[in-house]
Amino acid sequence: MTKKLDAIKQNVIECTKCELCKTRTKSVPGKGNFQSDVIFIGEAPGKNEDMNGEPFIGVAGKKLSVALSEANISRDEVYITNVVKCRPPNNRVPNNVEREACQEYLKEEIKIIKPKIICILGNTAFNSILGGSEITKFRGKVIQKNKQLYFITIHPAATIYNQKLVSDLKKDIIKLFNLVKKLKNNKKITIDIEHTS
Ligand code: URA
Ligand code: SF4
Repeated sequence: MTKKLDAIKQNVIECTKCELCKTRTKSVPGKGNFQSDVIFIGEAPGKNEDMNGEPFIGVAGKKLSVALSEANISRDEVYITNVVKCRPPNNRVPNNVEREACQEYLKEEIKIIKPKIICILGNTAFNSILGGSEITKFRGKVIQKNKQLYFITIHPAATIYNQKLVSDLKKDIIKLFNLVKKLKNNKKITIDIEHTS
């Protein structure tokens, strides 16, 4: 399994499938535990990630780490990745062409890791993966699509200047890992939305 993920990682490092390859410093493959019960999916690498080739290591990453630690989870236990693996110039939102070009990597990561639940971080991931919008309305909810469970929460970057969102993210992450515990024990969890299409 690690071999397959390593192969994806290598492909991402060398990838030239979209224009973002021209402006990136380093591609940013997903990182973490390949046996994780949860995959976290963000938007795209920022400046720090682009310089170092690792996801969520800047200010937003710190916010994510803190929220995880509130649920007694360390980053090494989970797998963290992004919708697109290269930084868009000036941190603009990745466009549809870029998202589509990059989606195969994400699909493969999910197929290999087979997470019990996927945690969507913010509107870009919500929109790309589930066609959703208005994350604040859906945060904290569980969505099922094609037998895969998704948990919706805000992007950690949104919490940087907003104390209310810090506590929302913390609440959500604690809820997420309570759900994971139930899933591990084969207990039923409440699905808020059944996604059809
Ligand atoms: N924001 C993201 O969406 N992903 C990262 O890896 C860093 C910041
Ligand atoms: Fe390839 Fe994705 Fe980077 Fe585009 S963003 S060059 S598709 S790895």
